[in-house]
Amino acid sequence: MNLTRREFAAASATLALTACAGGPSRRAEADGKLPSLGRALAPYFPFGAAITPGQVAFGSADFIKAQFSVVVAENAMKPEALAARGEGQYSFTQADELVNFARASGLKVRGHTLVWHQQTPAWFFVENGAPVTRATLITRMERYITDVVGHFKGRVYAWDVVNEAYSFGEARTRTDSEGMRLSPFREIIGEDYIEIAFRAAARADPDALLFYNDYETQNPRKIAAISEMVTRFKAAGVKIDGIGHQAHCSMLHPSVNSFERAVEQYAMLGITQHVTELDIALNDDISANRVSEASPALLARQAQRYADFFKVFIKQRRHITAVLVWGIDDAGSWLRHWPNERFEAPLLFDEKRQPKPAFWALMKLAETG
Ligand code: XIL
Repeated sequence: MNLTRREFAAASATLALTACAGGPSRRAEADGKLPSLGRALAPYFPFGAAITPGQVAFGSADFIKAQFSVVVAENAMKPEALAARGEGQYSFTQADELVNFARASGLKVRGHTLVWHQQTPAWFFVENGAPVTRATLITRMERYITDVVGHFKGRVYAWDVVNEAYSFGEARTRTDSEGMRLSPFREIIGEDYIEIAFRAAARADPDALLFYNDYETQNPRKIAAISEMVTRFKAAGVKIDGIGHQAHCSMLHPSVNSFERAVEQYAMLGITQHVTELDIALNDDISANRVSEASPALLARQAQRYADFFKVFIKQRRHITAVLVWGIDDAGSWLRHWPNERFEAPLLFDEKRQPKPAFWALMKLAETG
């Protein structure tokens, strides 16, 4: 048990967690009866997490099944995992195991991600030692989407079709004049690569929900660019069903208020929204390395901030139709390795997989509405 009495007391005081007074996490653990956050949040939206095939195979399947109602593969369904060997050569075994476990356990599955500038094998962009032509890259991208979405058809209910296509005001990130990231897809195919990708995904599984997924989705310039794209797609008959908010948050950024305003603006486009990769770093800045331990005071602040975000998700549940955290416990969080090796504890379970104050804050919120 990682949550000391002092830590729990700090969280309780901040949140007035009267129902939990006396250390329910200890009791729940002793009884083997940790309540399910996924079940508690079920009246509002499916709640879930990014998981790995290793967790499913080596002992975490029951935990995942108990706590969540939707899962996404943290890495196992990215192009570098599915198609490392070359065009038309797929490695579906691990992803299939993850998806089959989820389906057998009654969990929904999100698919992440088809077209991205990272974790995509180099062969996509090279032909006979030279950069591919636009026509070849379109063919390869369409083939990849057709094959992968087709393979998981009927098993994956929502796809992140394109990830992180826009960038505004970031150092070391080149974009075109519209803010489109100069990824190989944008450079070689042109700005219509997003539309081509969505059309291919819709053909491959007409029933899957198709998402554009990005971080900093509350940035006004991103809201404008994404809204313009969605409006254009709708006018042209290109199927797009939702916006994915990665929502990688720090203790200070973004403000809950700016996030809610963004949700309201995207809602006006007549699309749905998922919170796809939520975590709340203990650092004030998501890429900082100033925090070296999960102090009781920080855990209490983190609990409050999780609760503040979930109040908005619950209030906006007409528009926010799924919420997923990016990992099941702090030990496995990507923020321990990005942007460099460091301490972070951004999730709801600690490194010993014990519920943190944020978990109890969300349980309480879910029960009271
Ligand atoms: C991250 C994974 O969590 C890491 O394990 C991996 O090394 C890199 O990718 N935005 C996304 C996710 O859309 O796919 C990223 O996942 C985190 C940022």
